[in-house]
Amino acid sequence: MVKSKAWQELEAHYGEMAESQMRDMFGADANRFATFSLTQDDFLFDFSKNRISEQTISLLIALARERGLEEARRAMFAGEKINTTEDRSVLHVALRAGSSDSYVCDGEDVMGDVREVLEQMRALTVSLRGGIWKGHTGEAITDIVNVGIGGSDLGPAMATQALKAFHKEGLSFHFVSNIDPQDLTGVLKQLNPATTLFIVASKTFTTDETLTNALTARTWLQATLGEDAVERHFVAVSTNREAVKEFGIDPWNMFPFWDWVGGRFSLWSSVGLSLAIAIGMEAFEDFHRGARDMDQHFRVTDLEHNMPVILGLIGIWNTNFLGARSHAVLPYDQHLARFPAYLQQLEMESNGKSVDKQGNPVSIATCPALFGEPGTNGQHAFYQLLHQGPNPVPADFIAFAQGSIEIGAHHDKLLANCLAQSEALMLGQDHPDPHRRFSGNRPSNTLIFKRLTPHTLGKLIALYEHKVFVQGVIWGINSFDQFGVELGKKLAGTIYAERSGKAAPTPHDSSTNGLMAHLKYLEEA
Ligand code: F6P
Repeated sequence: MVKSKAWQELEAHYGEMAESQMRDMFGADANRFATFSLTQDDFLFDFSKNRISEQTISLLIALARERGLEEARRAMFAGEKINTTEDRSVLHVALRAGSSDSYVCDGEDVMGDVREVLEQMRALTVSLRGGIWKGHTGEAITDIVNVGIGGSDLGPAMATQALKAFHKEGLSFHFVSNIDPQDLTGVLKQLNPATTLFIVASKTFTTDETLTNALTARTWLQATLGEDAVERHFVAVSTNREAVKEFGIDPWNMFPFWDWVGGRFSLWSSVGLSLAIAIGMEAFEDFHRGARDMDQHFRVTDLEHNMPVILGLIGIWNTNFLGARSHAVLPYDQHLARFPAYLQQLEMESNGKSVDKQGNPVSIATCPALFGEPGTNGQHAFYQLLHQGPNPVPADFIAFAQGSIEIGAHHDKLLANCLAQSEALMLGQDHPDPHRRFSGNRPSNTLIFKRLTPHTLGKLIALYEHKVFVQGVIWGINSFDQFGVELGKKLAGTIYAERSGKAAPTPHDSSTNGLMAHLKYLEEA
């Protein structure tokens, strides 16, 4: 790829741009903000504070065309098996489709199944929110616990917290993911089994953390309510009906989804059940509508004005030409506290790879390490490095004109901080003392919405999903598998079996042997 015409032109262009300063570019062009920003309804995407010129964008667009982005986009929406290593379609867009849309996988329209599950979700949602669903002792449910991990946890946990302002009163939501028992017990000690419903969410229903937690939760429930209580207190979200049945959950209480939904793209499916219960089905549909608006924009808008395309290409520029190896996501809204963690899986599990779709090594950098915290907290922690660290850390600032709660000057001060940070990163500040000098010229995007609503959140997530897709196409990698998580899982199984005496010791390296021996010594001390 680095030998391609578009790449070579970008490299030459970077040579010309290397010394350019954003503050000079802003000084020379009063229209810079207008040139480098896009809007869709209330949503504004400002990418003017990047080290780019109009030529940069047109060369990046040429690269996208050269890499076949338009054809790849068509293939995804057409349900072609673009997840080549697993021979699967990638159709999370179907989960949030409109009433007249049709999406096809293996020659079959999937929309009938999608709508059926949405109706099943509606029935449970109405029943729980209305206090109609009763537990084993006849009491209404007050607490919902989602037991899942990765895509079966991060999406619903992040979105349920993000949309707290839209929750139904009287229902509380909890998320248990870690196999560390402190996670589960910390939640269980707040709960009354008679009024608790567990949602066991696992695409495969084989994930050790989730099954271990679910089994312990079942034992806890049965200890108080008896063997037969599971039916009224456990539902499952999965693609694996047999395993759900084997666990003891009535298949009538199973909410299916399909292998064309990747785990990290599954929040729109029944994996979003906890969110749907929290905000109600109408708001959940509004969440879908927001994503659908972004899907439609991504699908039909020319590359030059296409938000996920531009967001993805700016990331390519910063990673592959400026040399950035990390990326900060900085939501100025406390309810989006889990958004960076959610994006970590979405971006890094998708594009944290170093072979291309044909299995050849990728000769360039791919996904940067992503991190973030809500503003203003991060300002008092890691922003020092963003302002004065030796390497650029491109940042996405996310802000809402209206706060979910407005008290005194809090929200105005929050917004002032957000704007000040991107301005400071861009402008920098001269000072005779090098310790007090700010080089500036540090890239950032700013995304502004009117308010954090289900619709807005849907749009925001879909924007990043499509950004991930765009970058995967440019880097030539399969964004939809995750074989990199397998080896650790396998070795954990071996080590667990050895440590628990279920298998004979096998040779390990001296570090692993030493660590095992020391743990044993401390456990027995
Ligand atoms: O280990 C990684 C992973 O496979 C993720 O891709 C997935 O979201 C998570 O584990 C949970 O998987 P499951 O939903 O099958 O339990």
